[in-house]
Amino acid sequence: MISMTERHKKLPISNLDEHPYLASQRPFIELMMKYNCALREVSTKFEVLDDEFSVRYNRNPVESIKTRIKSPHSIVDKLKRKGYEFTIDNIRDHISDVAGARIICSFPEDIYMLADMFMRQDDVTVVEIKDYIKNPKPSGYRSYHLIIDIPVFLTESTENMRVEVQFRTIAMDFWASLEHKLKYKKDIDSPDAEEIALQLKECSERIAKIDLEMQEIRKRIDME
Ligand code: GTP
Ligand code: MG
Repeated sequence: MISMTERHKKLPISNLDEHPYLASQRPFIELMMKYNCALREVSTKFEVLDDEFSVRYNRNPVESIKTRIKSPHSIVDKLKRKGYEFTIDNIRDHISDVAGARIICSFPEDIYMLADMFMRQDDVTVVEIKDYIKNPKPSGYRSYHLIIDIPVFLTESTENMRVEVQFRTIAMDFWASLEHKLKYKKDIDSPDAEEIALQLKECSERIAKIDLEMQEIRKRIDME
């Protein structure tokens, strides 16, 4: 039988400190691991809420959950843009979206209901709320954003990790993905970009109306 220590030696991670370059990467790798754990905690919370809702009301307010960790390249870029050096402390203190979760809902009302239940949980600390549904961006972007801190229980400590949670309807998400493509086009100065932006803004307004209409229809169906 292999003892724990022997088995541990076999893991490549234990060789990390043997090479000076890899050893220097360890704090960053550990930080990303913690952000990833925070995302798992957040996902689980929404899965639990959705499960309970499904049993209680025979309905699933959560359509899907997407999570992502910001790439090292984007982290370096964002720190540089804000005028900070690439350090662990600066990542923690000045970037609030290293860990990002997107909760896609069927109806606008579900967004407020889920966000409210989530914010009321004891271990969730709300840092910032940005309601781009009530106050859409000039581009037409609609979503409900929360910046929160959530504890991650590690072997020797508990650490509060920051997570950005974006809530959107399926239609808002569809819109945002297409609009995101335009952002790249704008950078290369496409002559059509301005016209496309206007068309997208009109689409965003129509989408918002349809979201509300669909919600009303659902309520009528529920009352039958
Ligand atoms: P960054 O934009 O990330 O530097 O942070 P911020 O402080 O401006 O926060 P904000 O809430 O404005 O945006 C955070 C995230 O929301 C972005 O990273 C995008 O994922 C999304 N977002 C914000 N505005 C838009 C938009 O106009 N179009 C699209 N497609 N996504 C947007
Ligand atoms: Mg922004």
